[in-house]
Amino acid sequence: MDAKQRIQDLIQIINQANHDYHTKDQPTITDFEYDKLLHELVDLETQYPEFKQNDSPSEKIGGVVLDGFQKVTHLVPMMSLSNVFNDVELESFDERIGKVVSNYSFVTELKIDGLAVSLTYINGEFLRAATRGNGVVGEDVTGNVKTIKSLPLKLIENIDIEVRGEIFMPHKSFKRVNEEKMSLDEPLFANPRNAAAGTIRQLDAKVVASRNLDLFLYTVVDASKYVNSQMEALAYLQKLGFKVNMNYHHVKDLDALKNKISEYDLMRKSLPYDTDGVVIKVNEFQLYNMIGYTSKSPKWATAYKFQAEQVETVLKDITFQIGRTGVVTPVAELEPVVVSGSTVARATLHNEDYIVTKDIRIGDYVIVHKAGEIIPEVLNVLLEKRTNQKPFEMRSDCPVCAFPLIRKKGEADHYCSNPDCPGKNINALIHFSSRVAMDIDTLGEKVVETLHELGYLNNIPDIYRLNTFQNELKEIPGFGDKKVEKLISAIEASKKQTFDKLLFGLGIKHVGAKVAKTLVKHYPSIDDLMNANYSDLIEINEIGEMIALSIVAYFNNPVYRDLINNLKSLGLNMVFERETVLEHAFNGKTIVLTGKLNIFSRDQASDIIEKLGGKVSSSISAKTDLLVAGEDAGSKLKKANELGVKVIDEEEFKVMIDGLY
Ligand code: IVH
Repeated sequence: MDAKQRIQDLIQIINQANHDYHTKDQPTITDFEYDKLLHELVDLETQYPEFKQNDSPSEKIGGVVLDGFQKVTHLVPMMSLSNVFNDVELESFDERIGKVVSNYSFVTELKIDGLAVSLTYINGEFLRAATRGNGVVGEDVTGNVKTIKSLPLKLIENIDIEVRGEIFMPHKSFKRVNEEKMSLDEPLFANPRNAAAGTIRQLDAKVVASRNLDLFLYTVVDASKYVNSQMEALAYLQKLGFKVNMNYHHVKDLDALKNKISEYDLMRKSLPYDTDGVVIKVNEFQLYNMIGYTSKSPKWATAYKFQAEQVETVLKDITFQIGRTGVVTPVAELEPVVVSGSTVARATLHNEDYIVTKDIRIGDYVIVHKAGEIIPEVLNVLLEKRTNQKPFEMRSDCPVCAFPLIRKKGEADHYCSNPDCPGKNINALIHFSSRVAMDIDTLGEKVVETLHELGYLNNIPDIYRLNTFQNELKEIPGFGDKKVEKLISAIEASKKQTFDKLLFGLGIKHVGAKVAKTLVKHYPSIDDLMNANYSDLIEINEIGEMIALSIVAYFNNPVYRDLINNLKSLGLNMVFERETVLEHAFNGKTIVLTGKLNIFSRDQASDIIEKLGGKVSSSISAKTDLLVAGEDAGSKLKKANELGVKVIDEEEFKVMIDGLY
């Protein structure tokens, strides 16, 4: 089959599978099959860029990085909605409509808590996505919206149409994104709406693609050109291939409307995304002009806002947790209660000021909610229920080592003053070896705790001294020969970890993964960085006052200077190496391909080798550096073995080039 035809077929199959999975929620092929087809498509498109189509699902992987966003003027302004907060206000909304028209009915839809977007299709092909902006001028976020898997790049009908809807981040993605941010020491998103909005304004579409946003459509612009009512518009959107939230209903009168709203309020708690109300729209389009508009919003629609769920419970105790930087955080221990669908027993109280300002006391009745329906928080105290609770006092000693806590001027946090605090150290060790830092995968939380308890691990350099205790470690229950060998070799391998990861792993306050990357580019060795002064640091774009001060303080502290010198003499890499791709193992090497390849075509494999600086040769000689032997390799393999040429199979070849192609 020719490549052009295969590309067309693959696009059709994958787009259909996408639609079945993301829009209809009825998968028709397995993830594995899907990945395989997509892989084949990307390969073909790389080989034959001239056959690449605009509606190709490979666009959804996200390829472009932008400098900023273009402005887009909405031909039909994106209006907002008025709000009602209770049944009385709902009745007035209905009354106002009843005064100007009769024979009307309503459509109720969930109010999805995300950000509005307008999509333009020309001849059935996706052209552009724009944010609401100020309602008249928004931003062109086409490349980012393209990464949303449920977005159809081609519609069922070849029409010109503009449609609008809500981009949102499902709870599952929100949780994952924040967990990742936490491990990278980056500020968290407060709620899924902020996360969705922040993600859509990302300049790197790959980041957007990794965040799993989703999209519900609810409006057809100039809808009366196509249909006569909102019920028909929603059905039409589905027919065209869009994802529509199916919790919509046709209701005939005010009583039915009130009942529906109560039903929504109950069911929304179990939904996997945030909703903050019910949107109520008059169904019949021919009545819209008669009912009219204000300057901001239509009078034929409104949003009934839900009360965020707030639950009363008892604050049983305030405990304290120590983090890897030595910050001690107060935590609310609550009588467990169900809030927005899950049981809450603990909530952060942030710091002393938070507790004092809200006058939160042990034994109080408190109101808890979930910030953004996710993060449990104590909102306030029910003072009328207070009996004889004593005012809160911040503890003065570390919960782990009992050293005094200190609070620096101008800061809200309390720190343990013991530079060797075991509580802090153990968290620092866990962070150091974690996947996002030094990536010592066999040295997880449990192993760190055990080795710490037994006295083998008290600080970071101890990790690199474990090899002197191999025999002792093998005796620890649950360890054994294999596990210890793996542990030691993972530790050894981590000495070569990149400088920025090491720097991040040290756990310097305010130095997250991103800041570490910036720092090593400006200070390519640890000596450069240790000698950096405040005024040089502050010159760097992404380095603010707080970060600069923290870095200077860290490297001026003799304890940490000692630590660095120790790690240096243990052989850890503390130099930034640029352009690692050029140093690929294939660079300058003569490589021969033989046998049947299953993952790559011969041409692809040759192409990749050449791009990585290698030379492909057709015959084996003593000058050959490497033989890639596919299935049923014959004489060349034999000869390579005789000559002592290194041989790898196709899987190993794939591993060697992984992440590069
Ligand atoms: S209709 C004329 N329907 O709520 C206004 N909006 O406060 C057309 N929203 O900007 C909007 N779910 O971002 C409509 N089912 C829904 C909605 C919805 C969420 C958002 C939208 C809009 C805001 C208005």
